[in-house]
Amino acid sequence: MLIRLSTGRTFDFTAGESILQALKKQGVYLVSSCGGKGTCGKCRIKIVAGNYSTGMAGRLEPHERESGIALACQTFPGGDVFIDIPKESLLVVGDIIEISRAKDLTGLFRSLDGRISPLVKHIPLELAPPSIENNTGDLERLEKAAEEKGLKGMSFPHAFVASLAQSLREAVWKIDLAFTDGPGALFISPLEEKPRYGIAADIGTTTIVVYLINLLEGSVVDVGSTYNSQIRYGDDVITRIIFATEGGGLQELREAVINNVNNLMVPMLERHDIKAEAVETAVVAGNTTMMHIFWGLNPGYIREEPYTPTLNAFPLWKAGDAGITINRQAPLYTVPCIASYVGGDIVAGVLASEMHRKSGISLFIDIGTNGEIVIGNNEWLVTAACSAGPCFEGSGIRHGMRATEGAVESLRIDPVTFEPSLGVIGNSKPAGICGSGMIDAVTEMFLTGVIDQKGKFVDSIDTKRVRKGFEGPEFLFFSDNQRDIVLTGVDIENIIRSKAAIYAGISLLLRKVGLTIHDIENVCIAGGFGNYLNVDKAITIGMLPDIPREKYRFLGNTSIAGAYLCLLSEGMRKEAEEIARKMTNIELSVSRRFMDEYMSALFLPHTDIGLFPTVAKLLGK
Ligand code: FES
Repeated sequence: MLIRLSTGRTFDFTAGESILQALKKQGVYLVSSCGGKGTCGKCRIKIVAGNYSTGMAGRLEPHERESGIALACQTFPGGDVFIDIPKESLLVVGDIIEISRAKDLTGLFRSLDGRISPLVKHIPLELAPPSIENNTGDLERLEKAAEEKGLKGMSFPHAFVASLAQSLREAVWKIDLAFTDGPGALFISPLEEKPRYGIAADIGTTTIVVYLINLLEGSVVDVGSTYNSQIRYGDDVITRIIFATEGGGLQELREAVINNVNNLMVPMLERHDIKAEAVETAVVAGNTTMMHIFWGLNPGYIREEPYTPTLNAFPLWKAGDAGITINRQAPLYTVPCIASYVGGDIVAGVLASEMHRKSGISLFIDIGTNGEIVIGNNEWLVTAACSAGPCFEGSGIRHGMRATEGAVESLRIDPVTFEPSLGVIGNSKPAGICGSGMIDAVTEMFLTGVIDQKGKFVDSIDTKRVRKGFEGPEFLFFSDNQRDIVLTGVDIENIIRSKAAIYAGISLLLRKVGLTIHDIENVCIAGGFGNYLNVDKAITIGMLPDIPREKYRFLGNTSIAGAYLCLLSEGMRKEAEEIARKMTNIELSVSRRFMDEYMSALFLPHTDIGLFPTVAKLLGK
C-alpha cells in the first residue's frame, strides 16, 4: 500500500501503522505535542483521496472532518492514500534557529571571577630521547619528566598509552601534556603555541544552544541553536520519558540530541577553521530528564513517586564516550542537578543570576517548557518545579505555536471596536500565537471586558470577533481565506491554569520560608520566553507578583550563561556545586497547600485582588 504526498513523494507503509508513524519512518515529522495520543490536535493532515479509518477526532471541528482533515496519529489507511500536509503541521527540527543570546557573557565572567581555569590544564615537557644506554619505556620516561615538574601519581588511561609511542616521536620528545586534576593524563601534542577551545551546551527540552568558546581569552567565538529533535516524540519531558521507557526509545532519543549538538558544532568549526581536536572541553547543562537521556540513563523513575533521579551530581565523562565529535579525550562536565524536576539548567541559571551571592532576597523564575522557581540569597536557596506545562510554547492551545516566524507575539484589542492589532514575529502572515501573544491576548480580552475574572466569555459583549466555535465561544484574531486564528474558551482555561501554577508556586515557596512578596528585592526572569514577556501584562493576569516593575530583570538564556561560566573557571564550577548542595527542593505536587494556592490563582488576576493593587487600580476597584 502506498502513501502519496501532495509534494509528489510516494512511499510504502505497513498495514496497521498510523500515518504519523509511517511519515516518521520516512523522515517526515509532524507537530505531535501529545506524543500521538490524539489529544493535542496538532498533527492535522488532509486526506485528499483514499480510504482510511480514524479514531479519536481530538480537537477537530465537524466541518474540518467533513473536508477530509484528520489527525495523522489516529488515522490508519485502508489502501493507497493521497495526503496533503498543511505547513503548520510540519515540524522542522534540526534547522539552525536564531534565538536570543545571553547578555554580554565575558562581562559577566569578569564581574564574577575573571580568572580562566578550565578543566584541562597543560604543562610543557621536554623528554630525553631514548638511547641504547637509556631505553626505559616511553611511559616511564614521560612519568619521570612529569614528576620533575611536580606532577606526581598521574593516571594514564589506555587510550592515552595506546597512542603514546607515535605521538612522542612525532613531537620529537618536546610535548605539551594535557591533564585534569587528579592528576589524570588526557593527551599530548607537539609543543607549540596554539589556540584552545571549549563548548558550552544548553540541552533544553525544546531548544539546544551551543557556544564555541576561546579558552585562552574567554570570548564567544560562535553560537549555534536548533530545536531539540526529540520534539518528534512529544513536547514535554513526560512524553519523552514514556517514549524512552515504555516505547524502548532511550537510545533513539539520546542519538537525536547528540546529533543536534554535533550538527551545530561542525559548521561552526568549519567557519572558523578550527580542528575538532582543538576543542578540548565540553560543559552541558539541562533539566534532569534531558541530562539522563544525554547520559543514556533510564529516566523512568523521574516520573514515578517518589520521583527519584538516578543521580544529580554527574561524574566527569569523556566527549568521545558521549559521542560528541570534539577531541575524544576532552572531559565533559555536567552541571549538577537538584531533583527530578529541577535540573542543572536552574543551577546554571542561579549561578549566572548571581542571586546566590547577594544578601537581599531574590526570586528566580525560568519559564520554558515547564516553570521552575528559586527563592533565596547568599545563605539559603529553595526551589520548586511548578508544573506550568508547555502551554506557553503552544501545547494545548488550538492555534498555539513556539516563538518563531509567523507567531503573534504581541497584540492589542481596541476597547471600543474590539478590533485586534497584531505584532507578528518576522512581520509575516500570522500562523499562530506564541506565549507572549497568549498573555497579551488574555490581558486585553480581560481589560476590554471580553472575558470575566474567571476567564469566561461575557455574553453581553457585542462584536463579531466573538463567535461560537466547535468548543464553545472563541475570539477571532485573524482570518484569511486559508485559515482562522482564534483563542477558544478551552485555550483560555489552559493559559489561566499555567499562570496559576506559576503564581501558586511562588506564593507557596514564599510561605514555606516565612516571607511575603514584599520581601523580594530582585526578580530574575530567565528562559527564551522571558525575552518577549510583557511584565505589566503578566502581572495583570496574575502570573507574576504585583511588585514595582523596576525589581524585574530579564536575563535571557541563563542555562547557557551558567554552562559558559563553568567551562571557563574552576571557581564557577565549585560555586555551581555549592549552589546544588545548598538548594532545597520542595515537591509542590504533594503539598495540599499548593492546591489551595492554585485554586485561588485560577482567577484574573487572583481571588484576592488585594494582592494586585496596581491591577485593582487599573480595573477601577
Ligand atoms: S493529536 Fe496527534 S500527536 Fe497529538
